[in-house]
Amino acid sequence: MAKARTQFICQNCGTVHARWVGKCEGCNQWNTIVEEDPMGGIGGGPGRTPKKGRPVALTTLSGEIEDAPRIMTGISELDRATGGGFVRGSAVLIGGDPGIGKSTVLMQAAAALSRQGHRIIYVSGEEAVAQVRLRAQRLGAADTEVLLAAETNVEDILATLGEGKRPDLAIIDSIQTLWSDTADSAPGTVTQVRTGVQAMIRFAKQTGAAIVLVGHVTKEGQIAGPRVVEHMVDAVLYFEGDRGHHYRILRTVKNRFGPTDEIGVFEMSDKGLREVTNPSELFLGERNSKSPGAAVFAGMEGTRPVLVEVQALVAPTSLGTPRRAVVGWDSARLSMILAVLEAHCGVRLGQHDVYLNIAGGYRITEPAADLAVASALVSSLAGLALPSDCVYFGEVSLSGAIRPVAHTAQRLKEAEKLGFSQAVLPAASADLPKGNGMSWAEMESLPDLVARIAG
Ligand code: TYD
Ligand code: MG
Repeated sequence: MAKARTQFICQNCGTVHARWVGKCEGCNQWNTIVEEDPMGGIGGGPGRTPKKGRPVALTTLSGEIEDAPRIMTGISELDRATGGGFVRGSAVLIGGDPGIGKSTVLMQAAAALSRQGHRIIYVSGEEAVAQVRLRAQRLGAADTEVLLAAETNVEDILATLGEGKRPDLAIIDSIQTLWSDTADSAPGTVTQVRTGVQAMIRFAKQTGAAIVLVGHVTKEGQIAGPRVVEHMVDAVLYFEGDRGHHYRILRTVKNRFGPTDEIGVFEMSDKGLREVTNPSELFLGERNSKSPGAAVFAGMEGTRPVLVEVQALVAPTSLGTPRRAVVGWDSARLSMILAVLEAHCGVRLGQHDVYLNIAGGYRITEPAADLAVASALVSSLAGLALPSDCVYFGEVSLSGAIRPVAHTAQRLKEAEKLGFSQAVLPAASADLPKGNGMSWAEMESLPDLVARIAG
């Protein structure tokens, strides 16, 4: 038999190295490499006889397949993020920073499902049963039939789950506390986490129970993060939010049974997480529309329009190299907009510090925000406030042209609903609504926009 070989695995991204190195080549993190036995817990082991499978023709399946059977929690923002509820027989990973509210939202979901008559097991490896109960009490969920267990050993958990009637949904909080007898590495390593998650997924497939796995995002990389199991599960949701703000966003990054790019928005209160069904109102809540440098971006998150305020501050610099600081947007994208403003619009920013902030701690990923960012920058530089009832969207290309973006009608409809009456948008936008109460200005290029704002 071949000599057992250990591998050196990055705990952050899962990259395998032949020998120990200080810095991972995969993710450039330092001190994240741990020696592990790759065969530990993987494979059926000796003595397993191969079983013959029977392939089926795709055509014979037509008519038999219905939509994946789902269990809806009734918490609309959670159901939206999962694409319509948890799918039976599937595994969902919910990642996020420690303390962001993963256990809280899952206990609320467990209680809601239990009230509908589903059998729910909450397995906590981090807190004792009494602690979990205490949280449930605060959330007003203590009177439900949710079953609690405090276990960390994978074999014990499987035995617990297999006991009695099978659960409709099992929550494993968290994957980092899982350890299996069959894997040799220490708890929290990539091998242990993967072995544990694999066992849970197998349980889900065999019994038809939905499994929800909690994973802490780890900064130091000494314990394996949720990224190392993303490829194994059916759906991946990340809980985001800023400690300084009370709202949280559940973002779908992978979903085998539904759309990605969906978000669920929640607000943290003393009674747990509350759904926010109109996020625009939340993000625009503290707006001071009279100051220069603020532009409202009409954005999209998945299928839902979201309005947020983009704030810019452009001020003369006292440094040799001016500062560029961005919160909530891509800094490379900001550099690009600044370069286009300089090259095509004659806007000189070489002697100015530029600060850009997306209000409320929100993060924008859409290129459609370019036009709002450019407007905020020009407005701040010129010291002229933008009209407070106007929204902006459109993509800026390196040539200075403004490109149309998708979902024009939806963006305008949301803006109108929230009391806006004007929009600045790309020329040649498709699906412009007729009979809408909004008026709009179509922009061909960035110089047109600068002329419009700075006169
Ligand atoms: P928790 O769900 O334990 O975080 P995670 O499981 O992601 O590590 O959330 C903990 C935070 O939430 C903690 O800082 C306290 C806060 N919280 C509330 O503000 N209200 C509540 O009703 C609960 C239960 C928690
Ligand atoms: Mg927790």
